[in-house]
Formats: sequence, structure tokens, C-alpha cells
Amino acid sequence: MVAGNWKMNGRLAVAQSLVNALLDGPIAELAGREAGGIDCLVCPPFPLLLPVGGQLQGSAVTLGAQNVAATDDGAYTGEVSAAMLADLGCSWTLVGHSERRTLFGETDEIVAAKSARALAADIGVIICVGETLEEREADKTESVLARQVDALVSVIREQSAERVVLAYEPVWAIGTGKTASPEMAQQAHRFIRERLAAGSVVAAPAIRLLYGGSVKPQNARELFEQADIDGGLIGGASLSAADFTAICQSAIA
Ligand code: PGA
Repeated sequence: MVAGNWKMNGRLAVAQSLVNALLDGPIAELAGREAGGIDCLVCPPFPLLLPVGGQLQGSAVTLGAQNVAATDDGAYTGEVSAAMLADLGCSWTLVGHSERRTLFGETDEIVAAKSARALAADIGVIICVGETLEEREADKTESVLARQVDALVSVIREQSAERVVLAYEPVWAIGTGKTASPEMAQQAHRFIRERLAAGSVVAAPAIRLLYGGSVKPQNARELFEQADIDGGLIGGASLSAADFTAICQSAIA
């Protein structure tokens, strides 16, 4: 799987030309697992979901959101429910991105509640985990990942691997141009998979684990070659149709 996280970027016209450029390229041959390709999706900001979803119709590229409410519809000003995302044609949502955790105070409990709401609305979840630089330097990477994964297992234990994806995104590698080395990323991914299995998550061996953090066409292949890296969550490079397509190509070859 390769997912593009546009973050809070784009305007209607810019988004539409980005998607047109993407769909004009070889993405049609890369996207779509039934046809031997990969799951390929873009996650625009909320206001762009409807127009981008319209453009994607008929293509194998799917639509994802960047966030979802932890509650059902109701008096929650400014929130967007999982049912609304489903109504707009989203098949996926990111949950617990580090920017949500660090800038908007999302706790492990909130991330679990959001994941549960999305899954109940039949929206697949790409749940983000990862340590900060401070935590890595204090040798706390594994304990942080363990805490983040353990908070999720009761929600995802019985779910199919088709609907649950985890993204390992070391916070220090996001938007910084610093990537975890393939070996370092593989070690974290292996740890996450083992932790899922230890938490009796039935689909642990098959759950896709994406790496995210400064993935570019130049480094994607060596990351994706690692045994427990099953794709990427792409921020900055997903704003270029050529770069995003090249990264999708690396996930196949
Ligand atoms: P980046 O972002 O690729 O720009 O580092 C990744 C992410 O935050 O999902």
C-alpha cells in the first residue's frame, strides 16, 4: 500500500490538477490489488474529499481522510464523523498521525476510539505510531511503540488485515529529510508486528505496516524491500504526481 497524506495543503484547482496529473500517468497500471497492483490512495483535506473523490471515480486509486471524529454524529462543532466520510466515498482514514498527537493532544485512548468509530462505519484505518527524537535518544523507542500498539489491540483484535494498517512514522523523520535507515525501520516494524501478535491480534502476520517519514523516490525501494515494510505513508512527496507515482512503482517492482 502507498498512501499520500496531503496534510493541510492544496486548493481546489491545485488538487484537481494534481489528481489529473496522477491519473494521466501510469498509476492505472499500478493501483488496484485485484489486478496484481497495490492499494494506492490519497488523503486530501476534508473540503477537498468530495471533488477529489469525484475525480477518482472509475480509477483504482482510492480516497482516504486524514482524521475522523471519536464520536458519532451530534453536537460536536468542527468534527467530521466516520459516517460522513463513508458518505463521501472514503474507504480509508488516517488515525493518530503524530501531528494530531503532538499538536492537537490526541492520546492513545482517543486514537483507539477514533479507530473503533471508523471501523464500525466500514472505513479502513491507517493508524500511525512512532517515537520522538527525544524518546529514541533516551532508548525508549520500543516502550513508546509498545504503549501505542497496546492501546489499539482491543479495537483491532478481531479485524481483518484488509481493514487495518499501521504506519510507523518516527516523528524525527517526518518532513525533516531524515529517513530511518532501512534496518532501523525494519527493526521497529518487526517489533510492532510482534507486539500485535502478543496482543492476540488475529491478523498480525498479514497486517500491512507502512513506513512514513521523508520517503522519496530515491529511498523508497530500499525501505520497501525490508521484510516487514509493506508500503509507505507519503507526506511531502505525495504533492508531486511524478514523485508519488515513482514511489508507487518502487512498491511493486
Ligand atoms: P513526510 O510526511 O513524507 O513529508 O515526511 C510523512 C507523514 O507525515 O505522513
